[in-house]
Amino acid sequence: MRVLGIESSCDETAAAVVDDGRRLLSNVVVSQIDIHAEYGGVVPEISARSHIEAINPVIHQALAEAACTWNDIDAIAVTYAPGLIGSLMVGTLAARTLAALKNKPLYPVHHVEGHVYANFITEQADHLSLALPSKQPEFPMLALIVSGSHSQLVLFKDHGDYELLGQTLDDAVGEAYDKVAKILGYPYPGGPAIDNAALQGDPRRYELPKAKLSSPYNFSFSGVKTAVLRAAQHEVGKDFTFPSHRLSELLNDTQRVDFAASFQYIANKTLVDATEHAFNEFTPQSVVIAGGVAASRSLRQSLSARLPLPIEYAPMQLCTDNAAMIAALGYYYAQKKQPTSPFDLEVVPSLSMTKTAWI
Ligand code: KG4
Ligand code: ZN
Repeated sequence: MRVLGIESSCDETAAAVVDDGRRLLSNVVVSQIDIHAEYGGVVPEISARSHIEAINPVIHQALAEAACTWNDIDAIAVTYAPGLIGSLMVGTLAARTLAALKNKPLYPVHHVEGHVYANFITEQADHLSLALPSKQPEFPMLALIVSGSHSQLVLFKDHGDYELLGQTLDDAVGEAYDKVAKILGYPYPGGPAIDNAALQGDPRRYELPKAKLSSPYNFSFSGVKTAVLRAAQHEVGKDFTFPSHRLSELLNDTQRVDFAASFQYIANKTLVDATEHAFNEFTPQSVVIAGGVAASRSLRQSLSARLPLPIEYAPMQLCTDNAAMIAALGYYYAQKKQPTSPFDLEVVPSLSMTKTAWI
């Protein structure tokens, strides 16, 4: 079964074609990062307008690169939740229109669940050259989902049959990366910038706190972000009233990379401690990481060093937002669920994954 995936929940307009939930035929992503970087974060109105400009050419290109006509497409999968309302509407309206016009079954999928399915793509067309895992993960599967707006540990017993073990009680880890990067004067998005800067820094120079919580599977990242702010103010001889946006002018390059490394050290430790705890309790057959922060090289290294099973990571290009993961998940939906009428589909900007387990 060949699924066209469409994704527009945040700042990437994406379309992709995937065969049988595992074989990637095309993967087109148009990023708005350069536009939003000027403002230091995603501006929802600009995001929606940019999606409108990009959506048709991106879908057209995904079909062309997959060498497909509409006759070759068996279903359409689209992100309908969660995300920015105006942005989600652009992708879903395109998907609804195409499903109605071309008479294709339509599967609305959850973006965060979709991230996990990047790990199920193990084959690709000859014209692509991603470093894909050699086989699909087995169930039970433990998934550490770490994006700009979500941080959670989920235990999958099967496709659609999962349990939320824990989640962040405040900021997502990607959000903390982006805020710490702003304090240190690194450009948006902060994750890749901190991941690179940390390579040159000393992770032990600044001792940052790890939140103590009652559940071993919950996270909290807002305290560490404030701890970076206070330590940076102290480092440059200012008190807590000194504005965070002026700190980077006073920090030298060594302090900046040391803060990046110290923050990343404690963020990784928080995530890996919880994952290791869940691994020991639930003894899953496989462990996967998903979401933009899963692109972090140091998170991958820390996790592999701590867990006693080989972990095959999805390529970086499929960790950040893309439509291949949406098309892959759409295939599994199609095996077990009825399609949605293109005339009824509504977006849901805020929807926890716990509400979407479909078995
Ligand atoms: O999954 P994603 O592309 O969008 C959301 O669904 O939120 O995640 C974006 C987040 C941003 O916070 C970005 O800073 C972070 O992923 N990110 C990284 C890396 N690449 C992207 N964080 C750490 N290391 C990276 N290499
Ligand atoms: Zn995402």
